[in-house]
Amino acid sequence: LRPIHRLLSCPRTVAAEIKREEQSSGSVETGSEGRTPKKTFSEVQKERREQAQRTVLIHCPNKISVKKFLKYLSQHGPINNHFFYESFGLYAVVEFCQKESVTSLQNGTRTPSMGTEAAIPFRSRVFNLKTKNPSNPTSEQSRVQCSIHAPPSSKKLLELLCYAESIDDQLNTLLKELQLTEENTKLRYLTCSLIEDIAAAYFLDCTVRPFGSSVNSFGKLGCDLDMFLDLDEIGKFSANKTSGNFLMEFQVKNVPSERIATQKILSVIGECLDHFGPGCVGVQKILNARCPLVRFSHQASGFQCDLTTNNRIALKSSELLYIYGALDSRVRALVFSIRCWARAHSLTSSIPGSWITNFSLTMMVIFFLQRRSPPILPTLDSLKTLADAEDKCVIEGHNCTFVRDLNKIKPSGNTETLELLLKEFFEYFGNFAFNKNSINIRQGREQNKPESSPLHIQNPFETSLNISKNVSQSQLQKFVDLARESAWILNQEDKDRPSSSRSQPWGLAALLLPSVVNSASLAKRVRKKPASERIKSLLESIKSSGPENATSTNGK
Ligand code: CTP
Ligand code: MG
Repeated sequence: LRPIHRLLSCPRTVAAEIKREEQSSGSVETGSEGRTPKKTFSEVQKERREQAQRTVLIHCPNKISVKKFLKYLSQHGPINNHFFYESFGLYAVVEFCQKESVTSLQNGTRTPSMGTEAAIPFRSRVFNLKTKNPSNPTSEQSRVQCSIHAPPSSKKLLELLCYAESIDDQLNTLLKELQLTEENTKLRYLTCSLIEDIAAAYFLDCTVRPFGSSVNSFGKLGCDLDMFLDLDEIGKFSANKTSGNFLMEFQVKNVPSERIATQKILSVIGECLDHFGPGCVGVQKILNARCPLVRFSHQASGFQCDLTTNNRIALKSSELLYIYGALDSRVRALVFSIRCWARAHSLTSSIPGSWITNFSLTMMVIFFLQRRSPPILPTLDSLKTLADAEDKCVIEGHNCTFVRDLNKIKPSGNTETLELLLKEFFEYFGNFAFNKNSINIRQGREQNKPESSPLHIQNPFETSLNISKNVSQSQLQKFVDLARESAWILNQEDKDRPSSSRSQPWGLAALLLPSVVNSASLAKRVRKKPASERIKSLLESIKSSGPENATSTNGK
């Protein structure tokens, strides 16, 4: 992150200067901004995974000579990349050029002898570095520079947004501040790779892949790490070796269903993580959920992890979101802002419950962008039409085919600004007929709701599922009320945006402040400034939509 004091102590013009400087030097890590990445999702995954396999995690003393540390490690082979960060102490992520260096380092490492406790010997890629003479620090030992893995505080974020030059600039600033950094992404792949080492003790050749917001390009610093234990590669590997008249099969244990198999596998991996996984704490086996999982904290990386298996469709939906995120630079900026807005108003929560999830919000933004004229994003059906034979993918009877090469998708001719899109998003969903319509990104059209859940967003691949089945009527109503209020605030801004002084939060920053829905202050503002006919009707609906008339979510 850019040092905050530089921005806070300088006038807006200087802040803008810094931004321009960063943009022209290409140091802005927004991934897809302004250009289309050419790599496919699986190419990125493969590359990062291979990188992670050559990487180790080392817990270091707080003060260390980086030069000597790197020299010491170089005896095992050349180092490609390294960085430090803090999480229960100082950690170094060290990526060697060759995988053999990791083995060499492991061969030169001992299992600690404990005093009264006993150590379970486990050869992992997580190490403790001890200094031989801790009482005699050399002058080269100093505090090292650490990369930051936490998002800025709300206060800092608001300040940065206030310094922005336009609402478009605010949305891009928010994206830049909250998105996963290169280092954080590396740490996520490394953590999966470390868990894979543990799972591989039972299931040789298994793969642990990250999915969800860690890889779909919509991840925010601090988001959980969703992992998928992939055992399918094992089957594929042996199938290649069959020839002639014979077919060899492993003798295996049979269980009554796929679900039971999943539960048994996760149960044993959960035990392993709990007993042998360095830094894996708080292991919870949640095996009776619709999608069974093992949840745990990985202390060294600081990630909250959810490990699942037999969940291949979720991996495919991560790939789909990655494509949508890479197609147009406005997509991620808008999704990040909507997610941040929802979190600021407690519409989303880290605790599961009857609230909207980030995944649902992302689907809503994608759907909204498909509905623009001309559309900013293509429908899933049109991505399927562009697919070739190699893209064909059917998982458990569900057709998950879509084009995976980004270069084959025509960019949108729509040139609407982020400011307009933000405002229109709130108006669109502030007036959406949630009571009768379903959101469907496959067709990019509203569909009749097939069931009576308050919010219906069709799962793009398992089309009979509603991804927002958990959302209650009152939570949906809260979303609608806040969307209407935010549309009103942005429309007001249009009229009385001050040209010089912006000491008060404005634009996107104003939307992140506590809500005034149904409060006296809104009524006061209404009296002070007569709104246009359109805004008046929005206000009417805000005033009339209490929990008692929650069914009015059609917004008419
Ligand atoms: N998923 C799904 N259906 C759901 C919930 C989740 O298919 N009802 C899949 C999606 O692919 C999603 C992934 O599981 O991306 C992980 O779910 P979750 O962690 O809830 O969402 P994220 O997209 O990772 O967002 P967050 O940043 O909130 O973790
Ligand atoms: Mg997640």
